[in-house]
Amino acid sequence: MTSLSPRPARKAVIPVAGMGTRFLPATKAVPKELLPVVDRPALQYIVEEAARAGLPEVLMVTGRNKAAIEDFFDRHPELETALEKKGDDSRLASVHESTDVAQVHFVRQGEAKGLGHAVLQAAAFVGDEPFAVLLGDDLIDARDHLLEQMLAVQAEHGGSVIALLDVGRENIDKYGAVAVEPGASPAAGGDEVVRVTGLVEKPPVDEAPSSLAIIGRYVLSASVFDVLRETAPGRGGEIQLTDALATLVERGEPVHGVVFSGRRYDTGDRLDYLKAVVRLASERDDLGEPFREFLRNFVADLPDEGASSS
Ligand code: UTP
Repeated sequence: MTSLSPRPARKAVIPVAGMGTRFLPATKAVPKELLPVVDRPALQYIVEEAARAGLPEVLMVTGRNKAAIEDFFDRHPELETALEKKGDDSRLASVHESTDVAQVHFVRQGEAKGLGHAVLQAAAFVGDEPFAVLLGDDLIDARDHLLEQMLAVQAEHGGSVIALLDVGRENIDKYGAVAVEPGASPAAGGDEVVRVTGLVEKPPVDEAPSSLAIIGRYVLSASVFDVLRETAPGRGGEIQLTDALATLVERGEPVHGVVFSGRRYDTGDRLDYLKAVVRLASERDDLGEPFREFLRNFVADLPDEGASSS
């Protein structure tokens, strides 16, 4: 039986074995997690986030057609030698970023049977400790310290912690949804902490327990592995992490939520991907000024279609 006493999480699991059907045809050959957000893959931002939060041991759960991910986090001696010969130190440093940031390990998921099944592949790597899960296509702005807040909540309350976002009731049927009751004090970063009392994957809008959606950061108790082993395929015929978390709640294990108020992009969704590229490019020291200039002119020339959303 897994102890519920708080212990700090030290390991991160990043599932990247999904098929990425929302981004076809690009994802027929290129994993969506490697699509560049400006000039680095979405996945690199995510590994950097894990390392910043104090989790330098990373396991990626990969699958078929994902060999490029392993290449990206491996050394590239020919390229390094070529850049060294040219004396191109800044590009050489950028090539080293992906190998220096964390200790990256890989395990295969065999078949894409769902996020819960992907997380289960990490059982041997994780052992008996709490651990973080970061979805490989979910980008959290580096200035918004969501994972750090979640790790602190887990250390305080034990059990598991999930990241929540208010997506509005009309959008909740695309997400895992939660029932909650008010929690204790806010997390260190100021985001609200709630106690999760129920979870359901992609409910119809009129049956959703709230407009709070589960987004791609989790800090989980290792007891989730025992539950996942017994979790039958659910929504979409996939083994759902949401269903396993619902079982943990039913068994009385604490599950808390941190209601995120910062910037988040689902880079597996084409529109959100475009927003991430534009926002991060416009804020870059090296590209921002000319890019913002381009954007101002571009927007000024757009036909007026009335007010639009964020
Ligand atoms: P998504 O549902 O966003 O991934 O899963 P997907 O199935 O690749 O996307 P679409 O809907 O077809 O476009 C969230 C995360 O879980 C991983 C994905 O790689 C993604 O990072 N995942 C999903 C797995 O690792 N294995 C799976 O079986 C399913």
